[in-house]
Amino acid sequence: MESLKDKLKRDKIPQHIAIIMDGNGRWAAQHGNARIIGHQQGIMAVKSTVEGAGEIGLKYLTLFAFSTENWKRPKYEVDALMKLLVQAIDNETADLMKYNVKLGAIGDLEKLPLSVRTKLKECIGTLSSNTGLNLILAISYSSKWEITEAAKNLATDVKEGKIDREEITDRLFAKYLPSSHLPDPELMIRTSGEFRLSNFLLWQLAYSELYFTDKLWPDFRKDDLFEAVYDFQNRERRFGKISEQLF
Ligand code: FPP
Repeated sequence: MESLKDKLKRDKIPQHIAIIMDGNGRWAAQHGNARIIGHQQGIMAVKSTVEGAGEIGLKYLTLFAFSTENWKRPKYEVDALMKLLVQAIDNETADLMKYNVKLGAIGDLEKLPLSVRTKLKECIGTLSSNTGLNLILAISYSSKWEITEAAKNLATDVKEGKIDREEITDRLFAKYLPSSHLPDPELMIRTSGEFRLSNFLLWQLAYSELYFTDKLWPDFRKDDLFEAVYDFQNRERRFGKISEQLF
């Protein structure tokens, strides 16, 4: 039988997919477990998704692992999530190497505990010469933080006379975003039946296709990724134009 993966058009795989991994807490509650068990199960979903991304030749996968707002969660949950991140990075580096995955991170990383920052830096270094999938972890990330950073740095350049006020365009502004090295995602997936962007890549998602699924993140697997890509491939992206102008 033809699998969902086989049905995907190989020349129409998006370059960049961004995912809001939501529903770990609800998954845990449904299974009568503590929230952290949901986050632990979420790692299985991350592994399967990364594997699937590699199989279809995706170039960039950005995962929203921890938002600026998540710092406001109870301390025990924040601590447990940080510990889980270090453990996951530690446990998975060898497999990521095997899959030729390069790792990156976006966010206000200065706010992370030293142990997380050190481990992250170490793993990014180990995988730096890989040439396959670019896996980007958005950690301590929020879009408003990122856009504010861009505004601050641009203001400095204007003040120092490096940029003239009249030269500022959206393209120039985008160059000041901390994540400016990444192409805009063509597709954004959010799990758990919530229809929000939650301060995630607001600038970059301006023309992205949005895909929502009721699946809770711990239940998400590579086949769900393929389904989202299949759905994406059957949409018409007009970028503000009309259908007839696209061909
Ligand atoms: C949202 O579910 C999920 C998070 C805040 C954390 C996601 C992190 C992981 C899956 C670990 C990632 C690890 C790596 C290495 C990328 P929620 O807690 O908001 O769930 P709820 O809305 O049901 O309460």
